[in-house]
Amino acid sequence: MKKGIKLNKKYADLLKSQGINWIYIEDPLSEDIDVEDIIHDETRVFANTLLAEILSHNPPVINRNTIMRLKDAAIMIVSDIKEYRPRVTMELWFIKTLEDYLYLHSVNVAVISVMAGWHVGLSQNELEELCIAVLLHDLGKVTVDTLIHNKPGRLTEEEYMEMQLHTRRGFNILKDYAVFSPKVWSVALQHHEFYDGSGYPLGKKAKEIYLYSRITSIVDIFDALTSDRPYKKGWPFHKALNYLNTEVNKRFDEKVLRIFNNMVPQYPRGTAVTLSTGEIGMVVENIEKNYHRPIVRIMMDKKGNALGSDKVYDVDLSGEMDIQILDDHN
Ligand SMILES: [Fe+2]
Repeated sequence: MKKGIKLNKKYADLLKSQGINWIYIEDPLSEDIDVEDIIHDETRVFANTLLAEILSHNPPVINRNTIMRLKDAAIMIVSDIKEYRPRVTMELWFIKTLEDYLYLHSVNVAVISVMAGWHVGLSQNELEELCIAVLLHDLGKVTVDTLIHNKPGRLTEEEYMEMQLHTRRGFNILKDYAVFSPKVWSVALQHHEFYDGSGYPLGKKAKEIYLYSRITSIVDIFDALTSDRPYKKGWPFHKALNYLNTEVNKRFDEKVLRIFNNMVPQYPRGTAVTLSTGEIGMVVENIEKNYHRPIVRIMMDKKGNALGSDKVYDVDLSGEMDIQILDDHN
């Protein structure tokens, strides 16, 4: 929206109809808290458009043109991520509309997986290969009925079996294209395998699962947990991270999970938080390697009084170990 336009009910309804449930508002108290994407807008639009084209058809559209553009998208994403150093932080979780979930999810998981792969120490070629593999990891889903895909509530046994087939189907589609390496097919097949052998379709475990899929499985679940779906609201980052690290941590490669934890802030910039002091504020900055102790701008005192623009102040939690973040407002 342009600056100065009033957000009346008509606009709010219009945004909601587009699947946009929340927006950032710039005001004098938070004008320096930029919420930036980790890749350039052009890259995000290029990749989203391409994946929408490939994944909106059954069978998916893979031809010389889309393959060339996949390679371009991978080069752009890897280069954007490398350029971003040293502020490796996730500022914006891309807002997904429900209808567009499949391709937006594919691009998002690819971007974050490449970032994790970079921290793992993969080479330039490997990162580009990983990127293409993850962009196409859910390719087989286009063959699964959308009603199953977006079904509120639990799937029946039969529906769940159908859903699981997307791994083998994606693998079967991709392996017919000599241009993709076996490592690319392996992600379509293995991204729902778990380190402890509890995944599908083959119940592979530990290093039997290729590294690319050990990375993708963590990011895939994190993105699914934090996204709004027809049957649930997306979880805030800290809740999803806590779940991955406690309840289901045996499912993941410990080293990759540790790298993921150091990469993803529990409270990204722009998140509203309540501190143990009773004050309420907004996260201004996540400092690399210390994401869980961000700098918070205090905007409301412990009695609930809003502080004026001349009274707000920043608290650096990395130096205030006795202050905890109690909750966020998402
Ligand atoms: Fe999947």
